[in-house]
Amino acid sequence: MSLQEAVKEIQSSFDVSQEVLQRSVDKFIELAKKGLASNEDKLGMPMLPAYVTQVPSGKEKGTYLAADLGGTNFRVCSVHLKGDNTFNLVQQKSPIPADMMVGTGDQLFAYLASKIRKFLEEHHGDALEAAHETNSRANYLKLGFTFSFPTAQHSLDSGSLVRWTKGFNIPDVVDQDVVQLLQKHLDAGKIPVHVAALANDTVGTLLSRAYSANAIAGGKQGETIIGAIFGTGTNGAYLEKLDNIKKLPEAVVKDLKAKGVTHMVINTEWGSFDNRLEVLPTTKYDRDVDALTANPGIHLFEKRVSGMFMGEILRNILVDFHSRGLVFTQYPNFESLPHRLRTPWDLDSENLSLFEVDDSKDMKPTEVTLLQALRLPTTLEERQAIQALTRAISRRSAYISAVPIAAIIMLTGALEGHHIEVDIGVDGSVVEFYPGYRTMLRDALALTQIGTKGERRTHINIAKDGSGVGAALCASVSI
Ligand code: BGC
Repeated sequence: MSLQEAVKEIQSSFDVSQEVLQRSVDKFIELAKKGLASNEDKLGMPMLPAYVTQVPSGKEKGTYLAADLGGTNFRVCSVHLKGDNTFNLVQQKSPIPADMMVGTGDQLFAYLASKIRKFLEEHHGDALEAAHETNSRANYLKLGFTFSFPTAQHSLDSGSLVRWTKGFNIPDVVDQDVVQLLQKHLDAGKIPVHVAALANDTVGTLLSRAYSANAIAGGKQGETIIGAIFGTGTNGAYLEKLDNIKKLPEAVVKDLKAKGVTHMVINTEWGSFDNRLEVLPTTKYDRDVDALTANPGIHLFEKRVSGMFMGEILRNILVDFHSRGLVFTQYPNFESLPHRLRTPWDLDSENLSLFEVDDSKDMKPTEVTLLQALRLPTTLEERQAIQALTRAISRRSAYISAVPIAAIIMLTGALEGHHIEVDIGVDGSVVEFYPGYRTMLRDALALTQIGTKGERRTHINIAKDGSGVGAALCASVSI
């Protein structure tokens, strides 16, 4: 088989037809309803109640702290909500050392507490002093904790980790209350901060986009109905009717209804859509990448979509092509390939975004990037193949990303009604920076059951700093 033929084969196995899209939307709706009814199916979609019962109006005011753990960085910020749909934000970012992603809970949470202390010392010295002087918990600063992993919440300020994703694997935290863990380490360090709310990053994104929507679009783009992340991982949250969340304990529903509550935000954890692979396109490379992860067989939608996996899929295809004598023939065997090409997770999706759009005559930028990132010299023909493979991977990712969006629009009936428009807040490196991603996603949306008319009425907008501002908004509604 020639290189071109092999590339064609990949292109067709990564293709997502309209029929697959529509079947996937139906499957998503079926699995979402199942997840809302019970937690029994361990391979099902978690559909986790977030204990946030409304989205903000934009009039919320005050200064809150937020801490955000979700991928490669830990962010601490203070957010000043001005009450007019706008806010000011100061933040400090620290990378999570790789060994802490697979160490112990105490190590990780002590590290997070130390970063919160550092932030306070630099930005809120006065508040620190005041709290120390009175030594009263009433003067503690309120913090919203964005924790972007599947977490089963029991209230706005408690929740136990269901499982790690995105390369984290710290077994002693699973089933533990992550709010208590963080609070324990803050208290041990005498840091006057009260963890008042726990939120997934998608819940934060939904809330922050709803807070800002009026300022940005004058409210003309409809109500914000979904908050979604397409970055290192992928996931979405939306507002569901209480009556449809059948798995909520009766007493909780009764209590909420007595307070006039009608809805609750659901963190879908759509990364785990179709873990049984009944509809999603699957190739040998998807199976190989899954086998390399700490959570094989789980979060299989995420492993076809998000930034952490796109580069790894490409790396696996290239290694396979090499073993078949189709590329890099100067290297006689696997062991002689450049080390970085042999190393899982070393090919970043940021590099893919460059290959995607390199339209120069001899693809010099791609050549240089491959040399820098992987120490891999290439011929023009190889670079053209890499570009075609990259485009197949990113297109499949963007196309199937339309599935949960279309499905939630249908599930909630959000577009039903005359001249209704809906707004979707998104955040994450892939949707924000990957060239053409949002356009491809929209192309696919039009092919789903919502059609071109539905696609035109669906507005997808970046919720800048979504997770930080959202966590602050959660803290603002806590008592
Ligand atoms: C996690 C979600 C999170 C998403 C985006 C996934 O791996 O399971 O909780 O929202 O990544 O950060």
